[in-house]
Amino acid sequence: MEASPLRCTTPIELRPAQLSRLLGYELPYHRRKELFGMDEPEDGGSRSRKQYYSPAQVAMYRETHEPGFSLADNPQSVPPVVVTRMTKGGTGKTSFTANGSTILASMGYRVLVIDADSQGSISELFNVDTENESLLTAMDLFLNGEPLEKVVIQPFADTSLDLVPGDQFIARYDSTVMSERGREKLIQKWFQENQRQLAAKYDIVMVDTNPASTILNYSLMMAADLIITPVFLDGISLKAIKCIINELEEIKTEYGVSVPLHFVSNGLHNGWPHTKMNDEQLRLRFKDQVFNKKIPHYVGFSKQHLPGEAALPLFLRDTASSAAWSLVEVAKELAKLLHLRGSSNLL
Ligand SMILES: Nc1ncnc2c1ncn2[C@@H]1O[C@H](COP(=O)(O)OP(=O)(O)OP(=O)(O)O)[C@@H](O)[C@H]1O
Ligand SMILES: [Mg+2]
Repeated sequence: MEASPLRCTTPIELRPAQLSRLLGYELPYHRRKELFGMDEPEDGGSRSRKQYYSPAQVAMYRETHEPGFSLADNPQSVPPVVVTRMTKGGTGKTSFTANGSTILASMGYRVLVIDADSQGSISELFNVDTENESLLTAMDLFLNGEPLEKVVIQPFADTSLDLVPGDQFIARYDSTVMSERGREKLIQKWFQENQRQLAAKYDIVMVDTNPASTILNYSLMMAADLIITPVFLDGISLKAIKCIINELEEIKTEYGVSVPLHFVSNGLHNGWPHTKMNDEQLRLRFKDQVFNKKIPHYVGFSKQHLPGEAALPLFLRDTASSAAWSLVEVAKELAKLLHLRGSSNLL
């Protein structure tokens, strides 16, 4: 099967005010003009034509402006693997991974997203139609020996975000590896074998998963440097946490691998006191394992897919919403937690 290596149809366009908010510091007009060579009106451009910046320009700006943000190759610096995992469906895994990765890429980071969900939800959210297009997928990467550079596609123009698409065939992963010895370690091994290439190309790898307890998800957790669990602030999601804790304890007992776990509090609603109470319980129990910023309940999440329109992560569809900005804050916390280059500059 021939892969289409590039796509780049959708541009990410960031306004100067968005940029400042993303980075947490003001980008003065004269610096932007000097670096990007753009003729932007000094008053912010409300009356005149709009000016936008691409994530590639943000990366260029940060490289020139921030001492800690060199994009120079560092083969030693293996990117952290972040797996979004929850043993319950519909808690915001895909929304978090799609928005978090787009936001980090908009901050100038080089992000690899792997869609390991047989529903292919994140591929869809990035407008990649794995059903009707002939694409190589996560299954080809992990099991069929296809090289990474042949599998990745770029959903956005001028943005260092690569996607390994996912589709229904990943559901065959378990039956394919079932009789292999050390099957739970196969994905960990893939990451180890591809370390140099990953280190040269990416700052972070983010993996979206489905909620099933499968060999695939178990193996992805074993390969992770961090697991992120979005918890919807209803009682049921809170209870489901015990399943993921059990899985992690099993991994520790059987393989001696201890994988850190962080929670994202999702769906806070001021009019629904139970969401606040559930958030408090989560924090009481897991303390600094919970990201500080809470994601509000917001109808805009369901508008990431609109009939007859291209899908878009909330951060790009509805940038001014408080939900989008809360995701930006969580992404900054994540960048700092993982010590991504220049993350201490992010305010
Ligand atoms: N904070 C939120 N407020 C309102 N709706 C939300 C919020 N977060 C997610 N949703 C909605 O909840 C549904 C499930 O979200 P999402 O697909 O991100 O979850 P998931 O954990 O990936 O699901 P699955 O287990 O099926 O993969 C979607 O319709 C999404 O729009
Ligand atoms: Mg999902």
